[in-house]
Amino acid sequence: MPSYLLALLALQTIASPHCQHLAGLSERKLEKLLPGPSSVTPPPPGPLKDTSVKLVNDKAHPWMPLCKGYGMENGIVVALAYGSLLVDGNPLTNLVSIGAKSPATGPDPSKPADVGGLNGNNSIEGDASFTRDDFEFGDNHSFNNKLFDQISNRFGGGKYNLTVPGEYRFYRVQQSIVQNPHFSFTTPRFITAYREISFPFIFFVDGRKADGQLNLKDTLGFFPESRFPDDFRRIDGTNSSDLANNAATIMFNAHPIEPGRNDGKVNKFTVDTKSAAFDDPCGLYTSLVDVAIGRYPNPQDVLRKNLNANLGFLYQPFQGCPQRFPFGK
Ligand SMILES: *[C@@H]1O[C@H](CO)[C@@H](O)[C@H](O)[C@H]1NC(C)=O
Ligand SMILES: *[C@@H]1O[C@H](CO)[C@@H](O)[C@H](O)[C@H]1NC(C)=O
Ligand SMILES: *[C@@H]1O[C@H](CO)[C@@H](O)[C@H](O)[C@H]1NC(C)=O
Ligand SMILES: *[C@@H]1O[C@H](CO)[C@@H](O)[C@H](O)[C@H]1NC(C)=O
Repeated sequence: MPSYLLALLALQTIASPHCQHLAGLSERKLEKLLPGPSSVTPPPPGPLKDTSVKLVNDKAHPWMPLCKGYGMENGIVVALAYGSLLVDGNPLTNLVSIGAKSPATGPDPSKPADVGGLNGNNSIEGDASFTRDDFEFGDNHSFNNKLFDQISNRFGGGKYNLTVPGEYRFYRVQQSIVQNPHFSFTTPRFITAYREISFPFIFFVDGRKADGQLNLKDTLGFFPESRFPDDFRRIDGTNSSDLANNAATIMFNAHPIEPGRNDGKVNKFTVDTKSAAFDDPCGLYTSLVDVAIGRYPNPQDVLRKNLNANLGFLYQPFQGCPQRFPFGK
């Protein structure tokens, strides 16, 4: 699943006051338009009418239907937005690229921070994606039509419904195991990779229909072109978290896979016993925190303050999990 998709989903909380003008702008123009990236204090998540810009574009994703939302339950949006910001974004400027690394996110904090944008490998986007190649195979960023055709061929009756990604997820993992000596499929991605593939048939189907059957025409509009069908209405997202989790469970149970990686050789898939289980939300939370710790081993001053603020926001949808304070309180 392309990372920009996740980003677009998150956009419902972060519609921009300029959104009509931003859609379709080139990266260069967008950079001019965005406020110069200087250090900011992270604002708390939503309300849904929050008007701050937190995502920037890159060349591959020049269109952003910023003013349209997907009816996603706020908890999912908060988890996606703050998880992405912590592992792939710039906590100093509070900006994260929805695609590749972009100068528009401002000067990076020092290494090992990796402000790589959402397509950075195996945190949000990663191997066994539905729409791009594995990191190993060169261009691991651009939309891959060949992969997409593979999905299309599985549409069966011309619909993207739960059956299609359920089969395709398993197929992509098996394909990477036999082709990619450095294939990696562990949390956080192991957990999100089953949820994100349910988004199209939950959030991209018109809310007046909401039958979990996305037709091919609309699918092709959303995917390669990131366009909504005319007169699109969102679903009532009240239960969308449950919907996504239930769908993910069905897809997972059809072909259970354990988290793990190929250790340098194809067909040598080794289970990672430390990686959290598929249905463990606290494992998702804590693995995102672990990635953040890897990026920021010893943050100071504003960086530390902002990371702590973002960690606090990330925790909001994970209440009930043991909260972590890796950078102090
Ligand atoms: C991405 O994966 C490659 C190969 O597995 C690795 O060498 C590289 O360090 C990874 N980059 C990040 C940012 O995780
Ligand atoms: C994956 O893509 C990134 C840029 O998006 C590139 O820097 C990297 O070299 C690619 N990986 C490989 C193994 O070529
Ligand atoms: C998805 O569509 C195929 C082809 O029409 C059908 O066989 C299958 O039952 C559908 N699955 C769901 C969950 O609706
Ligand atoms: C959400 O779930 C609750 C409890 O199961 C149910 O009463 C309600 O009708 C559902 N709402 C929607 C929009 O599906």
